[in-house]
Amino acid sequence: MYVCLCNGITDKTIDEKLSAKSELIDIKKIKELYAECSDGKDKQCGKCLTQFRDAAKNRNEDIIASTMNLEPSMIRVVNL
Ligand code: FES
Repeated sequence: MYVCLCNGITDKTIDEKLSAKSELIDIKKIKELYAECSDGKDKQCGKCLTQFRDAAKNRNEDIIASTMNLEPSMIRVVNL
């Protein structure tokens, strides 16, 4: 499914980039994740950035859960 219509970025691309990360993602630097997924292209309208943030938060929850040996559903990252 396309997440970013401006640059044709799919949820699969975001998932692939995030699954390669083993350290927590700084949500305040979500534009860096965007740049990775868009091969360096700048965002245009920015409407998709919320979905990038949500995906990064979910990945952070998975990373925290795995380091604490918990189920991801037991972790809720509010803000980093
Ligand atoms: S939908 Fe992603 S920049 Fe416009």
